[in-house]
Amino acid sequence: MPILGLAPDRYPTKPAHFDIERVIRPNILSLHPYRCARDDYSEGILLDANENALGHSIPPSAASALEPEVQPTLALDLHRYPSPTHDPIKARLAELRGLPGTEWVFLGVGSDEVIDLLIRVCVAPGTEKVLITPPTYGMYAVCAQVNDVGVVKVPLVLEGEEGEGGERGRFAVDVEEVKKAISADPSIKLVFLCSPGNPTGTLISLSSIRSILEYEDFNGIVIVDEAYIDFADEKASAVTLLQEYGNLCVTQTLSKSFGLAAIRLGIAFAHPALVQILMNTKAPYNVSTPTASLALSALSPDAIELMKSKVSTLVKSRGELLRGLEQLRPLGLGAAIGGNDANFVMVPILEKNGSGRPDNVRAQKIYKTLAEHEGVVVRYRGGEPGCAGCVRITVGSDEEIKVVLQKLGELLKSL
Ligand SMILES: Cc1ncc(COP(=O)(O)O)c(C=O)c1O
Repeated sequence: MPILGLAPDRYPTKPAHFDIERVIRPNILSLHPYRCARDDYSEGILLDANENALGHSIPPSAASALEPEVQPTLALDLHRYPSPTHDPIKARLAELRGLPGTEWVFLGVGSDEVIDLLIRVCVAPGTEKVLITPPTYGMYAVCAQVNDVGVVKVPLVLEGEEGEGGERGRFAVDVEEVKKAISADPSIKLVFLCSPGNPTGTLISLSSIRSILEYEDFNGIVIVDEAYIDFADEKASAVTLLQEYGNLCVTQTLSKSFGLAAIRLGIAFAHPALVQILMNTKAPYNVSTPTASLALSALSPDAIELMKSKVSTLVKSRGELLRGLEQLRPLGLGAAIGGNDANFVMVPILEKNGSGRPDNVRAQKIYKTLAEHEGVVVRYRGGEPGCAGCVRITVGSDEEIKVVLQKLGELLKSL
C-alpha cells in the first residue's frame, strides 16, 4: 500500500530486511489525513477556516505592558491558523544538519510530542512493545504506558571504565543484550537510545547504533534521542547515518542548546517515508505561529553562531563545575560519573564515614535541603540503575556554579 503523500521510489535505503509498511500500524498506513483549510490556498480573502475576521482582542494597553522583545509576537497573524508544514523552518534545519531537504524533517511540540507520536504510529496498544535502555529519559516509558504499550528494559552497561562511553565503557549500550531481547520478542517495534544519555551524559557510539540498525531480526525503528547533541563532539550525531538507513529516526530539540525550552519545538529527522507518516498523523496545526516565528529567528545564520558560542561557554563552564566538584571529594562526594557530554553532570554523594559507598539517604537529604533552604534546585537520580547516590546538576551561569558549589560544600560538611 503506498504511503499517502509520499513520492514513490525516490529514496533507496538500507537495510534490505527493513520494510516500513510492516512497522507502521495498519490503521495509520491506511489513514486519509485531515486536510487543512490552508493545504490548498493561503492567500486572498480568507473565509475558509472560521477564524475571527476582526482579529484578537488583546488591548493595546496590555501590549504596551509587555517586554519590548515580546511585542512583535502580537504583530503576527494571530487570528489565522498557523502553517501545517512550516517549510522555512524545516529548510533551515535540513541545512544545519546536512540533510537533502525538508522532506527529511518533522516538527513537533517539543521532542516529547515526537516521542509520543512515534509510539502511536508504530506500536499497537495492548500487544506490542518498545525497548528502552535504563538509566534513560523517563518519557519513553511514560508515553509507552499512556499508549498501553509494553516496555522491555535492557540496562546500559553499568560497570566498566568511568565516562568512556564508546562500545563497552560504562553506560554504553549493551548491543548484544539488545539483540537478544529483540530476537526473543518480535513484538518490539521501537528501540529508544539516548545520546548523549539523560541522565548519564554519555554518547552512544555510531558503531553500536549501526549494529542494531543492521540486525536482521529487527523489523522496527531505532530512535536516537539527541536532545543534548550540540554539547558533544560534532561528529557524534547519528544524523550522518540517516541517508543510509530507512529504519533510523533522530530526534532533536530547540529546548537545550538553542535555549528555547518555552517555545516547545522538537524535531524528528528521518527517512521521508516516516516523516510523511508522522505528517499524516499529527494534529493539523501542532506548531503555533509564535513558536514558528521564534524558531525561524533562532535558525538564522547569526543566531546559530550565537548559539554555538553559548554552547562553547557552557562546555567550558561544565569543566569548571567538574573541577569544583572534584575539590569537594574529601567531604564525601564521589567522582562524577558518565561521559559529561551534555549540559549537566552526575555526581554521587557518598556515606559520610569515608567508606566510599554511595548513600541515597544522604543524597536525598542534601537534595531537599539545597532546594528548600538554600534556593538551589538540582535533580535527585539515586533511584536509577547505576546511579546510586547521584544528583544531576545542570551547568548554570558562572554565578550559579559558584553558588551550587559553595552550598553543596556547606551541606556535605553538615549532613
Ligand atoms: C533526553 C531528552 N529527550 C527529550 C527531552 C524533551 O525535550 P523537549 O523539550 O523537546 O520536549 C528531554 C528533556 O529534558 C530530554 O532530556
